[in-house]
Amino acid sequence: MKYRHAHHAGNFADVHKHVTLLALLAALQRKEKGLLYLETHAGRGVYDLGESAAESRAGIARLEAVACEAPELRHYLDRVAQLRRAGGSKHLYPGSPWLAASALRAQDRGVLVEALAEEARALERALGPVAGRVRIETGDGFARLRAELPPVERRALILIDPPYEQTREDFERVRIGLAEALRRLATGVVAIWYPIKHARDTDRWLEAVARELDREALVSQLWLHPCDSRVALNGSGLLIVNPPYQLDERMSQWLPELYRCLGGTAQGGCAVQPLTPARA
Ligand SMILES: C[S@@+](CC[C@H](N)C(=O)[O-])C[C@H]1O[C@@H](n2cnc3c(N)ncnc32)[C@H](O)[C@@H]1O
Repeated sequence: MKYRHAHHAGNFADVHKHVTLLALLAALQRKEKGLLYLETHAGRGVYDLGESAAESRAGIARLEAVACEAPELRHYLDRVAQLRRAGGSKHLYPGSPWLAASALRAQDRGVLVEALAEEARALERALGPVAGRVRIETGDGFARLRAELPPVERRALILIDPPYEQTREDFERVRIGLAEALRRLATGVVAIWYPIKHARDTDRWLEAVARELDREALVSQLWLHPCDSRVALNGSGLLIVNPPYQLDERMSQWLPELYRCLGGTAQGGCAVQPLTPARA
């Protein structure tokens, strides 16, 4: 496996994913009852943009340069600033495990899975003081879905964020993993990040997912380049199954603002739409 998330940390897709993750956690934490946060592809938790900042210039750096108004965007920027203060460096960028682990309450629990031992060790170091009720597992995130679900809490937020290095294979494993997760915990909130290279391919995959789904789901997409251009990554997508109440309304507010803040032009766009389950 050649993929290292450090090359992509803080890019526009990370920003889209991380703002959404924090919004999901906050929505679920409106209830007192504890939850399991399960992340199948965790990465190293904290990244140094001073070492590999190229993609973050069109991501977090753009967002920081403008005034954001939506509470979700401000909350995300506050959390990035919090990490930088704590770590004493303005170049640090939090991965999803850091953002989630530092937001968990005493009644919540986290399980973070990472395949590469070196990345998992870095994750342990990165979480340090925010590790709290979090367990780090080295292994295959898709296999751990079966092992960790259903959780004793009967409530879970599951983030599935593979590298899509073997694009077709990863999309297929995600589709199967989602079905498995929902079989074990039908009410689990599942967020799946996916790359948009050709809209035609992602649309086909979403149709295949919808055919199997009997739950409510939401698709949030943001693309900075036309969806068929030959750049490496045209857009970022998130499929959210069992979305919390009114998430779509809030997202319809902050996603266009995020798009503007990222310097979106007429060539790109963003959209929040329900994914209509075929078996509803
Ligand atoms: C896109 S990165 C994760 C980024 C992280 N979720 C974030 O937003 O900060 C994908 C990670 O999955 C790891 N990985 C690849 N295959 C895996 C597998 N089968 N199980 C668990 N982790 C895997 C890679 O080493 C990489 O660190």
